[in-house]
Amino acid sequence: MQISMTVNGAEVTNVIEPRVLLVHYIRDVLRLTGTHWGCDTSNCGTCVVLMDGTPVKSCTVLAAMADGRDIRTVEGLAAGGTLDPVQQGFMEEHGLQCGFCTPGMMLTARALLDKNPHPDDGEIREAISGQICRCTGYATIVRSVKWAAEHPRLSDNEQADAGPSEEFADTIPAEEVRS
Ligand code: FES
Ligand code: FES
Repeated sequence: MQISMTVNGAEVTNVIEPRVLLVHYIRDVLRLTGTHWGCDTSNCGTCVVLMDGTPVKSCTVLAAMADGRDIRTVEGLAAGGTLDPVQQGFMEEHGLQCGFCTPGMMLTARALLDKNPHPDDGEIREAISGQICRCTGYATIVRSVKWAAEHPRLSDNEQADAGPSEEFADTIPAEEVRS
């Protein structure tokens, strides 16, 4: 069957077998390996991507179910060579160790902040409750999301008015961010 969707702002169309899971379509067909594949049983959450802005576990979604939808993966978080505040927050607050859970955690955080720009600790913990981190103990992840909430990305117009940003002067260029 043929499917088409928007992935990180780009239209993609492919012919796939109907049984293919979204996580495998993203990783194996689109080669966007920042989306990780862990338990395959909807428990760990490392495969989370955003579908029409909502976090979904891509190991439990058929690629065919994403036909016509808008998909955002971790590769789509940075914009214009600048990290998303969530990415910057994980760097500032050491929100990762091995990094396996991190793409899903960051996408869930982005979805949360898009709906609730100022979440409290409980709301952050609730948002990531479907995701497992075996390394951090979660405290630094919560701090990372709070950092992002306190440092929202300026809109393009605001950025032009403000001139060069010192805040993100030491930001890693997006092309250097490994998946
Ligand atoms: S790989 Fe999808 S929830 Fe674990
Ligand atoms: S940083 Fe290792 S699983 Fe979360």
